[in-house]
Amino acid sequence: MKTLTIRKPDDFHLHLRQGERMGDYARETARSFARALVMPNTLPPVTDPAGMEAYKKAIETEAPGLEALMAFKLLPDMPAGIVPEMKKAGAVIGKLYPAGATTNAEDGISSYRQIPDVLEAMEAEGMVLSIHGEHPEKPVLEREISYLTELEQIIRDYPKLPIVLEHLSCRESLRFLEQTPDHVRGTVTTHHLLFTLDDLMGGSLNPHLFCKPVVKKEEDRRALVDAVCSGHPRLFYGSDSAPHLKESKESGSCGAGAFTSPVALPLLAELFEQEDALDRLEDFVSRKGADFYGLPLNKESLTLVKEPWTVPDLIGGAVPLLAGETLSWKISS
Ligand code: DOR
Ligand code: ZN
Repeated sequence: MKTLTIRKPDDFHLHLRQGERMGDYARETARSFARALVMPNTLPPVTDPAGMEAYKKAIETEAPGLEALMAFKLLPDMPAGIVPEMKKAGAVIGKLYPAGATTNAEDGISSYRQIPDVLEAMEAEGMVLSIHGEHPEKPVLEREISYLTELEQIIRDYPKLPIVLEHLSCRESLRFLEQTPDHVRGTVTTHHLLFTLDDLMGGSLNPHLFCKPVVKKEEDRRALVDAVCSGHPRLFYGSDSAPHLKESKESGSCGAGAFTSPVALPLLAELFEQEDALDRLEDFVSRKGADFYGLPLNKESLTLVKEPWTVPDLIGGAVPLLAGETLSWKISS
């Protein structure tokens, strides 16, 4: 049987939620990933050292073997003094959500000009600014492209600030990245590499693929695959796996988020194999992100076997992407 053994991956963009289901999601993540950068858009959000430390402890207690890398959410009225405090408490990123851009982002930032002192402090501390790059007032398919103008201004105004544009979804963002300095990087998800609007709603609507930014056209998907599978030096993996309870996804007001942790590595192995790039998978999921964040590479390994398995219907009350379908690569237990 064909197998693939790689250095154990990291997920540099993950939603674990809080409360009783969090442990299920964290343990699921631990099967594939050694470390995960956990997003702060919980309710209430992660915004202070005590809350962040408690959240990290809760995650690592629930999922032994998973190291939680922590994030805090930028709020419009946040004092700049919080930045060195969060850094000292171990925060890896400050996350900028444009107000209203996605799940639990109503309290986000309407313009980066609202938080000049915070951004200055982040630049001084070398703290990474992670951005959900969508302009929520624009038409849904233009939101990411439209945000690039603001991003250009942030890069200009804070020339030393390390930045990650999260979950790239279109060609224009890839092109944009080419024109930015080396300290600007991008993450790419599994779902934006594999699916398009036609998968989301070309037949019957698939709420489990509804996420922000929405999956785009085939040209966009193709450009992302070409970039990632050719070993683009500035792109690394962040799943943006975002579980929502089944009842809420299969309802009249489906929240944005695709729960991909259980299928991420099997799907990526299949994709990289098809692209004749299996030898590049490890760099994408296990090396480039760690290098950017200045973290040591993981020592453990992960083995995938080419053996069919069926994706479970429900994990922690949430429906994984492709539930009930058979995938060709499986995580070896
Ligand atoms: O689809 C998404 N879901 N995109 C995000 O940016 C947030 C996430 C969530 O928290 O559900
Ligand atoms: Zn996210």
